[in-house]
Amino acid sequence: MKVLVIGSGGREHALAWKLKQSKKVDKIFCAPGNGGIAQIAKCVNIKPDSIKALSDFAARNKIGLTVVGPEIPLVKGIVDEFQRRKLKIFGPNKKAARLEASKVFAKEFMRKYHIPTSAFKVFDNPAEAIGFCKSVEFPVVIKADGLAAGKGVVVARKLSQAESVINDMMVKRSFGNAGDRILIESFLQGQEVSVMAVTDGKAIVPFLSSQDHKQAFDGDRGPNTGGMGAYCPTSFTTEEIGEQIEEHILTRTVNGLNSEGVKYRGVIYAGLMLTAQGPKVLEFNCRFGDPETQAVLPLLKSDLHDLLLACATGKLSSFGKPAWHEGAAACVVMASRGYPGKYSKGVQITGLSNKTEVGSYIFHAGTVQKGNRWVTDGGRVLGVMGMDKNLRAALNRAYRTAHKIKFDGAMFRKDIGFRASKPIMG
Ligand code: GLY
Repeated sequence: MKVLVIGSGGREHALAWKLKQSKKVDKIFCAPGNGGIAQIAKCVNIKPDSIKALSDFAARNKIGLTVVGPEIPLVKGIVDEFQRRKLKIFGPNKKAARLEASKVFAKEFMRKYHIPTSAFKVFDNPAEAIGFCKSVEFPVVIKADGLAAGKGVVVARKLSQAESVINDMMVKRSFGNAGDRILIESFLQGQEVSVMAVTDGKAIVPFLSSQDHKQAFDGDRGPNTGGMGAYCPTSFTTEEIGEQIEEHILTRTVNGLNSEGVKYRGVIYAGLMLTAQGPKVLEFNCRFGDPETQAVLPLLKSDLHDLLLACATGKLSSFGKPAWHEGAAACVVMASRGYPGKYSKGVQITGLSNKTEVGSYIFHAGTVQKGNRWVTDGGRVLGVMGMDKNLRAALNRAYRTAHKIKFDGAMFRKDIGFRASKPIMG
């Protein structure tokens, strides 16, 4: 079967890499892909939000399954268009993708269906939002309603900071329409974990839990990024907590959406805080996490193609439970100097061999090959993965590979996994 992966980051490289391990997959296309993906798939120059062009491509090339990486095409309705043309696609439709597209929708939905989350209030008027902040205990979390490229969530530690964030979002409109409405939420304490689950709208298959590292620098310092590294599984998600997540969060979400007439097919990414009162939802995403996917998929023993196709065709209940490798996997993100702010592209990368030691693999996020030279082409450049019998050994493997790769301004956190040894509740 031919498969099309949509997107161009490390997450899509990991998806293509895992799909390629399936005996059912003969050929992988990736739109638009990147330098590393081009080594295992045929990259086609179509943008992820060019829905008409992508559906034409899938029809013309008899693609048996399309897997969507980023949220934008999902939010714009790529699944609706593919389904209209009877093309098989993995991902939620436009209505279901509101779980990520509108934070206000997601919170009101959680309130309605008793899905544990923090207390919140919605504002469409900056003066009222600031007035409310004068009566609350800090810190609070301020969120833009719409998509803001991962920058729309701020923890405000004092009133002056909250005022400035509210002004940025609602008055200066730094995120355009996305900040027309905002949420002010209470701040939750605990360990943060990511749980991705695939569903066909009836059955739900949770993946192993993982932990991202959002801040740019060691010790969780510096600005928020798209994610500087992840590991899987987490020790915090005990069997009991896993059951609570499945029952109180994932099942209520899928059933709640069904009650609203929305069939969710695809991956639900739940960003969770494990609090003293149990797991609570920080956010939902309608797509695989990045870089969590680069740490979770290496541990998947079952056939990813079969799993995703079963979701896309409503047959997940016949798939059963997926099998997982023992041990752990970790992904260390190598980024360009300046990321998540301004950074240069076109910087030469050396030491980038696809013959890494067994159990390690380099997922490309922002690279391009120029003749026989590799150069940087993004803020997050590479996701270096290691897997082994335990987390320490997996991290050692990832870091051994990362230390062999050089480019001017390369920065990566040296402490991925540091929270693994901390207590569950903060
Ligand atoms: N790693 C966070 C995300 O994918 O949204």
